Parts: sequence; C-alpha cells; structure tokens
Amino acid sequence: MAVTYYKQMGKIPRKRHIVMRKEDGTLYREQVMGTKGFSGIQSILYHDHPPTEIVTSSLLQENFFEYEEQSPLRPRHFNTNKVKKGQDALSGREYLLGNDDLVIGVVYPSNPMEFYYRNSDGDEVLFVHYGTGKIETMFGTLTYGKGDYIIIPVGTIYKVIPDDGETKFLVIETTSWITSPRRYRNEFGQLLEHSPFCERDIRGPEELVYFTEKGEYEVRTKARGALHSHIYNHHPLDVVGWDGYLYPYIFNIGDFEPITGRIHQPPPVHQNFEGHNFVICSFVPRLFDYHPEAIPAPYYHSNVDSDEVLYYVEGNFMSRKGINEGSITLHPSGIPHGPHPGTIEASIGKKETLELAVMIDTFRPLQVMKTARDIEDDRYESSWIED
Ligand SMILES: [Fe+2]
Repeated sequence: MAVTYYKQMGKIPRKRHIVMRKEDGTLYREQVMGTKGFSGIQSILYHDHPPTEIVTSSLLQENFFEYEEQSPLRPRHFNTNKVKKGQDALSGREYLLGNDDLVIGVVYPSNPMEFYYRNSDGDEVLFVHYGTGKIETMFGTLTYGKGDYIIIPVGTIYKVIPDDGETKFLVIETTSWITSPRRYRNEFGQLLEHSPFCERDIRGPEELVYFTEKGEYEVRTKARGALHSHIYNHHPLDVVGWDGYLYPYIFNIGDFEPITGRIHQPPPVHQNFEGHNFVICSFVPRLFDYHPEAIPAPYYHSNVDSDEVLYYVEGNFMSRKGINEGSITLHPSGIPHGPHPGTIEASIGKKETLELAVMIDTFRPLQVMKTARDIEDDRYESSWIED
C-alpha cells in the first residue's frame, strides 16, 4: 500500500474493464493490482502482453535470513561501512536484523540489475544514504538522490540503475504495507494540517517508459522467504497506461518538517511511516526546546515493548558517542537505554541539532543475523560507564 491519492499515467480507456485496442486491433491486457483482497487500495494497469506468460520458473535461493543463536540481551552497534561493496541493488543486500514483520539491511549497489525484481511478500523501503540513479518500474521511472525514501509497493516489478559514483541504501523489506501514520490522515486519506509532511512532498513516477519487445526476460521474485526466478516471453515493463492509488513513490527526508516544543518532544513526533508492527521515524535538523531550563537530550527511557533501531545518516547525534555515519544501533526491549555520559549536560542551552537519522521501532523483538556479527562493535554495550 502506498500513497492515498489518485494518479494516472499513459493510455487508459474511459471506463475500467472495457475494450482498449492496439493499432493492429488486438487488445491491451488489463491487470488489477489490489491489496487486502481487493478491499485495500489498488491500481489498474494496461499491458501490451498478458502478465501471465511464464516460460519457466525456478527456485534460486532459500533461507536468506540466518539468525544468530540467542545471545545476552544488550545494546548492539553495527558498523555498516564495513559491508562489502559492489554488485547490484538486490544481490548485494546485506541483511542485519529482522523478524516476521520486516528485515533491515544495507546495500552499496554499483551495477544495474541484470534482471527485473519484485518483492511479493510486502512493501520495500530503500532509503538513499547517498548516490543518485534511477529505478525503472512497471508504473514508470523514478529518479533518486540523497535522502530519498523510495517506497515500492508489494508486487511491483523494478530494476535499480545506479549512476556512476557510490550509492548506499538502507533497505527495509516488510511483510505488510507502508503507509503514513493514521493520525495524520482524515477519513478520506488526505494529510491533515498537523502532519509533518503533505502530498506536495511526494513524488510518483516521472515518466512511463514501456517496452513491447518479445524475448526471454527474467523477473526474480521474492516470496515466502525465498527467491524465485520467472522467465517471461516478453519485456516485463510493457505497461502503456495505469491509474489508481497504488504505485511507487519517493519522499525526501529533507521535506520532513520537524515538530518542536518548549520541552522535549516524544519520539512519535518524528514518525514518518508505519507498517504492521513497526514505525519508521525521521530525525532531522531542528531547533531545540526553548524552555529556559529545558534539557534537549532525551531522558533515559524504557521501550518496554519495542526494539529500537537507529541508522545514523549525518551530523553529530546528540545523545550518543562512538557512533559514526552508517552506524546501526539496536536497543532491545526489556532494558532501559538513554543518552551517553555527558551528553545530557552538553545539550543544555544548545539551540539546534544538525543530526539526521532514520529510526525503526519494532513492536516484536528483532533477531540479529549471523553475518552482522562480523561488523559488530562489542565495546558498545558497556559504553555508558563513565570513565
Ligand atoms: Fe530511544
């Protein structure tokens, strides 16, 4: 599920489910992509070829996610700058944390995918830490840049084509739908005045590019926790027109308008998106609390029933020491956490912060992937002890 407003691109017939012919008199093929058993949002697409023409199917990979054995409950810190670079935006994904609701990883794509890809388990979020490029999708092409959250709805066929230079994505693969927070929408889905972003901040596909070629084309499909390969007998991006509410879009973190106050504002003011059993928040540069005795740094807090993941993008994160751009921290439910020694005192009287970070709070515990151990900073758990 994506955005809640209507968009239309390319050629579509005047009414749904009626004849639309090509110049040679044959029919375009209509596909309804509906969520929640056709009671959620949907789009209707018109293909040059039927989207069902599979030549062969094969299983490419099972058991993507290998989790470590139960280990002591503790704060964890992973340095994603150490993740292997290169490959394409799917093959190069290094998964670090996950549960049944989502998995979190990073990728440094340097090559275009040599295939098309769709995630049929749920929506994907690609947060662009840096780099530029484009994403070709069945709904049209989007161009991305630094700070973009790219939201790709379940079942969308796409290909990432990075420009020259380094690109890095924080990847969130879900098994549900990404939406705006419910409290920021009215009963019709329009974003309300107190929302920290509005429809003008959302960029859908810019151009609908389609291909009518026949030939063998591979679409890799992630579904049921495995990767499958489908060979079709035509180009998979053959949509000549579509309309509806379901489509990929981009929201730039720089368009998130921070909510500030006289005293410390609670974490939900930073919320940008939500899915089933998790939220995604944007911590952006902002003015600090303006009560004369305010403590801008957060208080110690017990997230008693949620795990907290922070991905540090830029700037000095005010409450933490020893973390870098590209660090991921995990503060699990069950033990309190909070600012590092000295950061509370240092925050008093400060006027602003330039921190930029993405936070993911999950309402069910996350597990750590075995491979994340290779990039873990073991000193983090005891870094709250004052020297
Ligand atoms: Fe926290």
